[in-house]
Amino acid sequence: MDGTVDKAAVVTGGASGIGFALARAFLAEGMNVAIGDIEAAALDDAVARLRQYAGDAEVIGVRTDVTRAEDVTGLCDAAEAAFGRLDVVCANAGVETGGRVLDVADEAWRWVMDVNYFGTLNTVRAALPLLERSGDGHLVITGSLAGFASGTPFMTPYCATKMAVHGLAECLEIELRTSGSDVHVHLLAPGPVRSRMIDAERNAPAGVPINEDAARRAAMEEFRARQSAEGLPAEHVAGLVLDAIREQRFFVLPHPDRAVAAMRRRLEWMETGRTPASRVPGT
Ligand SMILES: NC(=O)c1ccc[n+]([C@@H]2O[C@H](COP(=O)([O-])OP(=O)(O)OC[C@H]3O[C@@H](n4cnc5c(N)ncnc54)[C@H](O)[C@@H]3O)[C@@H](O)[C@H]2O)c1
Repeated sequence: MDGTVDKAAVVTGGASGIGFALARAFLAEGMNVAIGDIEAAALDDAVARLRQYAGDAEVIGVRTDVTRAEDVTGLCDAAEAAFGRLDVVCANAGVETGGRVLDVADEAWRWVMDVNYFGTLNTVRAALPLLERSGDGHLVITGSLAGFASGTPFMTPYCATKMAVHGLAECLEIELRTSGSDVHVHLLAPGPVRSRMIDAERNAPAGVPINEDAARRAAMEEFRARQSAEGLPAEHVAGLVLDAIREQRFFVLPHPDRAVAAMRRRLEWMETGRTPASRVPGT
C-alpha cells in the first residue's frame, strides 16, 4: 500500500483477539475500519475501544454472521458506502470444536466448516469485486499452523477446515496473479496466539452439541497450555500482517520455524509412510 490516508479496511471476527488487533493496527496506519462480528455486545464494546485509538479515522461495527453470505456482503457494502473505498479485507472469523472423529456431532462438523471455510469463501466473494476497484487491494485470510500440519488429534474439524482455507487462499492467489489482478492475497497462518479461541464454542448456535469426553479435554488442555506458554500477543501478529501487505508477501508466518517443521513432518510422513507420534500426552 502506498500511504494510507483515506484508505479503508474490513475485518471479520473483529471484536476479539487477532481481528481486534488487526483493526487497531489499521487505525494506527490512519485507515478507516469496519469490523463485523457475530457477538453483538462484544462488537459494540470493541467499536467503542477502537474509537479511542482512531484519531481522525472512523470506525464502524456491523453485526455479521460470516456463515450468511448476505451478512458479509452487507458488511463490505456498508464499509464502502461509509468510506468510499475498500483497500484491505480480512477474512478472519474462526471457531474450533473437536473430539474423536466419530464422537463429533454432525451439527458440530457443519458449524465449524460453515464458519471457517464457507465464512471465508463468503468474505472472498463479497470483497473481491470491491477490492478490484481500489487498484491495490489486499485480502488477508486467516488460516492456521493446523493448515500445514495434521495438527493435534481430537481437533480434526478445525484442522480439516483450515486445510481447506489454505487451499482456497493458495489457489486464489495464483488465479489472481495469472489473471493480472491488482488484488493480492495474504495467508496468515499462526501457531498459538493469545485470544479467546479457547472459548470458541461460546459462539456455537443452539443445537450444536459440545463434546466433553476425556480425549477432547486433554487436547484442549494441551492447546490452552501452548497458548499461555508460547502464545504470541495478537498485536505482534497484526504487525506482521501489515509488513506482509507492504512487502506483498503471501505467507504470513508468526511461527516460521514451527510452520516449516510441520511441513517437514508431513513430507517425512509421505516419504517414509510412518505416522508421526501424537502431540497429546496419553493418547
Ligand atoms: N488464537 C490462536 O492460537 C490461533 C491460531 C491459529 C489461527 N487462529 C485463527 O485466528 C482467527 C481469529 O481467532 P482468535 O484467535 O482471535 O479468536 P477469538 O475467539 O478471540 O476471535 C474470533 C472472533 O470471531 C468471532 N466469530 C465467531 N464466529 C463468528 C461468525 N459466525 N461470524 C462472525 N464472527 C464470528 C468471535 O465472536 C470472535 O470475536 C480464527 O480464524 C482462528 O482460527 C487462531
